[in-house]
Amino acid sequence: MTDTTRDNALAVIVLAAGQGTRMKSSVPKVLHRIGGRPLVGHVLHTAADLGPVETLVVVRHERDLVAKAIADLDPNAHVVDQDEIPGTGRAVEVALEQLGGFAGDVLVLSGDCPLVDAGTLAAFVASHRAADAAVTLMTAVLEDPTGYGRVIRDADGDVARIVEQKDADDAERAVREINAGMYVFRAEALRTYLPAIGTDNAQAEKYLTDVAALVRGAGGRVAASVVDDVTLTYGVNDRAQLSEVGRLLNARTVRRWQLEGVTVLDPATTWIDVDAKLAPDVTVLPNTHILRTTTIASGAIVGPDTSLVDCEVGEDATVTRTDATLAVIGANATVGPFAYLRPGTYLGDKGKIGTFVETKNSTIGEASKVPHLSYIGDTTIGKHVNLGAGAITANYDDLNKHRTEIGDEVHSGSHNVFVAPVRIGDGAKTGAGAVIRKDVPAGALALSVAPQRNVEGWVEKNRPGTGAADVAAKARSAQKADDGAQEEDR
Ligand code: UD1
Ligand code: CA
Repeated sequence: MTDTTRDNALAVIVLAAGQGTRMKSSVPKVLHRIGGRPLVGHVLHTAADLGPVETLVVVRHERDLVAKAIADLDPNAHVVDQDEIPGTGRAVEVALEQLGGFAGDVLVLSGDCPLVDAGTLAAFVASHRAADAAVTLMTAVLEDPTGYGRVIRDADGDVARIVEQKDADDAERAVREINAGMYVFRAEALRTYLPAIGTDNAQAEKYLTDVAALVRGAGGRVAASVVDDVTLTYGVNDRAQLSEVGRLLNARTVRRWQLEGVTVLDPATTWIDVDAKLAPDVTVLPNTHILRTTTIASGAIVGPDTSLVDCEVGEDATVTRTDATLAVIGANATVGPFAYLRPGTYLGDKGKIGTFVETKNSTIGEASKVPHLSYIGDTTIGKHVNLGAGAITANYDDLNKHRTEIGDEVHSGSHNVFVAPVRIGDGAKTGAGAVIRKDVPAGALALSVAPQRNVEGWVEKNRPGTGAADVAAKARSAQKADDGAQEEDR
């Protein structure tokens, strides 16, 4: 693992052992999500882009949960356990032990600072190497530096030390340049100075930030890289910051797709997860959520008021006021308004899932339509089928789920119930109101409703004195007079 011969090798240490008390959550802070990915996932993803020889993630609070998530997020990352000694300095110290005699640079990142990008970090590492510094800090000048460690510079403007908010005096608190919590160290500097750090401070912790003063005291060089875009340094400590950082990430994602040729009418109400993919000439209408691994092909129009989770939308499809999860929508298909597509829905090219339609675990073939007021579950529908309004598949018999199979070119009447398991042959038709309990052969017409019988005068006889009886009596006598007149004309 350790390559002592390559001085320019880079190792990354991600700090993720803290409790995140201010989140007031049963979920560890670094596992809270923005953009469809846990906070620490963003950091690991960015770190991986730098091609480090090693990525170590320090854990302690909710250790097993966090370790499992890290294994899923980046199988190449190694989990390191922090012991009972608290503080960022101790966290880096335990990780460093795993690096043996590593002689390159160590980039330290926080699991709760997800907005920093690989380009910024690459430039940061390059500036550290160009300056031949023992340590380089990332700093930012904030309007309100409250809560952060302050960067204290000497008369020459060089970094002398970092003082935490809780340990700072009034003059130090007035400093607006803050430590962003991201650093590059020569591994050798960490090995030399971390053991020397004590816990004599307001939080009784081993502060990583104390390395700076120790390096300076020994005549070493501490460099600082001031970032212009302060939002890159934003960390998440509470839920308000979680939403703020999530909003900034989303704004960045939306803008990226806009520059790739996607029309987004209203970035403020459009939410696109980092793993979603949109082709040029997709149009996204307001209040639309494109989540997880959703992909949208060129020419598709999505929204308004639509949420797609792990979906695939084909070319030139339209999806309007729809909620869909794990669904595939074919090219030129139309969905909605007010459709609910549950997992396992496959809508063929040119197909339609219309208004107030719910689908689940069903394939609707090419150019087939389920236009209105339907529930289609555990069903296979062939090509060029049209189901009348109110088609319901009764897929559940109280014990088991069964499939409905509908062939090609089937047309069903309005308000049909298909009691599964049942099979409708190619080209068959069904009458209005049919309850289809038995298979329908290809080309047959299935009728299950008894012929209509009209009982003349029923309303006048059984509902005398009602408005209905009055108008019925009038209509019937007018009809009689009319019939009589016609009789005389003959
Ligand atoms: C830290 C810095 C502060 C800087 C700020 C930037 C120190 C002493 N202070 O303060 O100068 O302005 O970040 O955001 O480093 N962690 C561990 N083990 C621990 C303690 C923390 O792994 O024992 C992890 C946390 O999970 C977190 C990161 O280290 O990811 C930072 O810890 P946090 O407690 O948030 O430090 P701050 O008080 O924000
Ligand atoms: Ca923090």
